[in-house]
Amino acid sequence: MRAVEILLVFLTFSALLLMDGARAQMPGFVSLDCGGDTGFADDLGLVWTPDKQMTRGKTTKISVPNENKKQYTTLKYFPADENKYCYTLDVVPRNRYLIRATFLYGNFDNNNVYPKFDISFGPTRWATIVISDASTIEVEELIFLATDPAVGICLSNATTGQPFISTLELRKFNGSIYLNQYENQFFLSVSARINFGADSVDPVRYPDDPFDRLWESDSVKKANYLVDVAHGTQKISTRMPIDVSNDERPPQKVMQTAVVGRNGSLTYRLNLNGFPGFGWAFSYFAEIENLSPSDSRKFRFVLPGDTELSKPVVNIQENAQGKYRLYEPGYFNISLPFVLSFGFQRTSDSTMGPLINAMEINKYLKKSDGSADGAIIAGVTTAYSSAEWAKEGGDPCLPVAWSWVRCSSDPQPKIVSIKLSGKNLTGEIPSEFTNLDGLVELWLDNNSLSGSVPDLSRCRNLKTIHLEDNLLTGELPSSLASLPNLRELYIQNNKLSGRVPSGLLNKDLILNYTGNVNLLGGSRRSHKTNVIVGSSVGAAAAVLLITAITCCVLINKRNKKSPKRDQVRYDLAAHKFSSSGGDGAAEAAHCFTLSEIADATKNFERQVGFGGFGVVYYGKLKDGKEIAVKVLTNDSFQGKREFSNEVALLSRIHHRNLLQFLGYCQEDGKNILVYEFMHSGTLKEHLYGPLMHESGMSWIKRLEIAEDAGKGIEYLHTGCVPSIIHRDLKTSNILLDKNMRAKVSDFGLSKLAVDGASHVSSMVRGTVGYLDPEYYISQQLTDKSDVYSFGVILLELISGQEAISNNFGPNCRNIAQWAKLHIESGDIQGIIDPALREYDIQSMWKIAEKALMCVQPHGSMRPSISEVVKEIQDAISIEAARDGSSGEVSRLSVHSSANRAGSTDFGIGAHYLSIDDSVTQPTAR
Ligand SMILES: *[C@@H]1O[C@H](CO)[C@@H](O)[C@H](O)[C@H]1NC(C)=O
Ligand SMILES: *[C@@H]1O[C@H](CO)[C@@H](O)[C@H](O)[C@H]1NC(C)=O
Ligand SMILES: *[C@@H]1O[C@H](CO)[C@@H](O)[C@H](O)[C@H]1NC(C)=O
Ligand SMILES: *[C@@H]1O[C@H](CO)[C@@H](O)[C@H](O)[C@H]1NC(C)=O
Ligand SMILES: *[C@@H]1O[C@H](CO)[C@@H](O)[C@H](O)[C@H]1NC(C)=O
Ligand SMILES: *[C@@H]1O[C@H](CO)[C@@H](O)[C@H](O)[C@H]1NC(C)=O
Ligand SMILES: *[C@@H]1O[C@H](CO)[C@@H](O)[C@H](O)[C@H]1NC(C)=O
Repeated sequence: MRAVEILLVFLTFSALLLMDGARAQMPGFVSLDCGGDTGFADDLGLVWTPDKQMTRGKTTKISVPNENKKQYTTLKYFPADENKYCYTLDVVPRNRYLIRATFLYGNFDNNNVYPKFDISFGPTRWATIVISDASTIEVEELIFLATDPAVGICLSNATTGQPFISTLELRKFNGSIYLNQYENQFFLSVSARINFGADSVDPVRYPDDPFDRLWESDSVKKANYLVDVAHGTQKISTRMPIDVSNDERPPQKVMQTAVVGRNGSLTYRLNLNGFPGFGWAFSYFAEIENLSPSDSRKFRFVLPGDTELSKPVVNIQENAQGKYRLYEPGYFNISLPFVLSFGFQRTSDSTMGPLINAMEINKYLKKSDGSADGAIIAGVTTAYSSAEWAKEGGDPCLPVAWSWVRCSSDPQPKIVSIKLSGKNLTGEIPSEFTNLDGLVELWLDNNSLSGSVPDLSRCRNLKTIHLEDNLLTGELPSSLASLPNLRELYIQNNKLSGRVPSGLLNKDLILNYTGNVNLLGGSRRSHKTNVIVGSSVGAAAAVLLITAITCCVLINKRNKKSPKRDQVRYDLAAHKFSSSGGDGAAEAAHCFTLSEIADATKNFERQVGFGGFGVVYYGKLKDGKEIAVKVLTNDSFQGKREFSNEVALLSRIHHRNLLQFLGYCQEDGKNILVYEFMHSGTLKEHLYGPLMHESGMSWIKRLEIAEDAGKGIEYLHTGCVPSIIHRDLKTSNILLDKNMRAKVSDFGLSKLAVDGASHVSSMVRGTVGYLDPEYYISQQLTDKSDVYSFGVILLELISGQEAISNNFGPNCRNIAQWAKLHIESGDIQGIIDPALREYDIQSMWKIAEKALMCVQPHGSMRPSISEVVKEIQDAISIEAARDGSSGEVSRLSVHSSANRAGSTDFGIGAHYLSIDDSVTQPTAR
């Protein structure tokens, strides 16, 4: 009885939960119905909310024939003035999103000109919205990687009519097919997303596409959209499921339809919004026709005038490794015109015409850095978040400035004027203003500001200061007198006390300090000086001193709160202190002085390597120890972060197969890391670099290097608590010492694995060719991602081939695919480095098979690094037995070039997704 009751309660509860789930918004979705007044769910199941957060502008109803979606019955419009009107949406940093703004004019203002205005994404001008038809919905979409917890979408610059907006939709992506090497500097502005062979004119979107992209039908009729279609173009479709996996590849419904060129070709022409320019373009293919065994479908991409692009041959079934499977070749960076004509042409030996299911073209939109003072002023608007003036949103200067701010016209503008007169401000004068070093005018008059006048000496350009009609107390700081450009200072009608600093009185400036009952003036310049009794001067000075101290403390406190420039130092300290709890304070990194380093490197005389984050110099310490000194490039925020990360990590890692970290130096704005010096350079150089011939590494030598590196990684994975994932293993990060023993270097990309959790999520980083495809897709980092990269290294050791190369034939894009093809068909000879003469085929097989397991697509199928190390050791004993000696044999093979520079690749993340632009082969993901 009781059990039944409990079950019933449980069932009811679950049912409630389910119902609730059905009504809830998709996680990561925001759908704003601009101008709407109540929330609702539409036919698709999307939950719309009114844009109540936008308190500016006006709402109105519109009615457009044949458009009955509720979100298109209202809109919000704004005055046609100099201001910008911004929506602020919350996002989760380091996630990718699609943002979509739509505009249905509906003749809301009965104006005889159509509106034309700009939309911006934060400081970046996104697009110009040009309305040319009252009943057509204009759509703008952008794909971006969030860096801040909020994004601002602003309307401004009404050239004609009034700016307006109908909907704003934010969709969070899951994985990372839009990941690209440019995304720190560029957004992807969506130009075309086409569903070929569509069975209706409506776009495919949510819920078919879990990310609610709009896959536009190829049968939509609009100006210059998919015209010049080749004769013999036929739509086809299937009901068979298509294997698209659950990341952002096109949804199954899109892939189930296609067009085929029965006469041997497909051709199209369309206008690409935003182009000409550089873009990201991918095509999506899946074989959905039943081909007879004698049939083949092979074709080439044709872009008139570009024969280079037409070289690769697509054979969907072969490329995708089966029917009903997706193959998605494309270009990460391709130059495209505004009017794009393209096609696909059957090869002469193909019996079937080309086929295409879908296509996506996005334009790279350069990100604006925003104004230089954005982070500073954010502290003020946050503090007064309920005031209207603080809600303008977006960047303070770009694309147009806030109504109470004026900015310089530099590419990265600075705030030159703040005008907050009569805004009912209370509390102290925000200390953030004292950090605006471009400030020329400051208007804070007619408020209720209290406390003292802050030290404004950092704002050296200040010309005009209005602080009159407030409740300010205390002394006037004498630093005001040292502002070189100060011409006007208004402080009348406050509660200031003490004396007006004589420096001010003697300055050529307009100064009004009347109405401060306790503030003593003095005569100016040529006038007789006032005689004041000694004791009162002493008292005043004491007050001044105390006020100044209090001021400093307050300013310092406030400055700490806003995370800004000093982040690194701060992190560094935090790491250092926290490490005393963990591994013992003894392991805190050694701090070199800059002069020590300068001495050791003879003033940075000999450069031995470089990378995107800095240059590596050779050095010798007083005690004779040779060092490698990496000076990080200073202006790189990424670099600074890597720096603190690396210092903290390195100081607690000691293993003979890991590059020894000796200390760091952070002085004079320089960030420097000091390592032991490795005489014989990188494994990469010995395998196929400049040292290849000189070196001629034997198989057993290669195995020993693999063993060393493997043990280093094993220590990172299992010997450190919490364990460490390297994230950027590659042959250029394996360094060799005088005795050709290997050490793993470059932990700049490492990240502490969270204790107990099986993965840590973080921005995908790594080097193409070595990058774990599962991590790439899911962004879920595990120690198996390192195993993948290590597998690639093993394959390089076997073959002497680079991870990515053009030697692998048309169907293989990387060493893993190429080796798999050969090894699985039993042809191991086909991949063995011709430079290797003596080896036991059994040990070769062992390593080849293990390497293939390391590069399995799924982490769970890969062995642990410890298993791999064991296999390598077995292979070494086989080789040693073959040699008839005791395994010591090649350990003696000291290399003659011991004295060379050892140009170690210290470039932390220099090759972050270093996709080679020169490779014109389409890159499939
Ligand atoms: C405003 O728009 C016009 C026309 O689209 C453009 O020429 C102008 O540069 C824009 N002004 C600003 C400040 O963005
Ligand atoms: C997002 O990714 C997770 C883990 O890979 C998966 O379980 C989930 O189904 C994905 N969601 C969508 C909407 O594809
Ligand atoms: C295309 O094929 C059809 C028959 O399938 C034929 O009638 C037509 O002439 C062909 N057109 C071209 C341009 O080859
Ligand atoms: C694309 O390639 C061009 C020319 O090679 C280069 O100038 C540009 O920076 C690359 N990336 C983007 C996002 O345009
Ligand atoms: C002071 O500000 C108030 C609004 O807070 C305004 O009404 C008043 O006119 C202002 N007075 C002067 C002298 O500017
Ligand atoms: C000024 O602020 C006070 C409270 O902070 C509020 O009660 C008052 O209405 C405000 N006055 C104006 C003119 O905004
Ligand atoms: C100083 O300010 C007071 C009050 O605002 C005003 O009455 C007076 O005229 C000003 N004096 C000068 C010299 O500008």
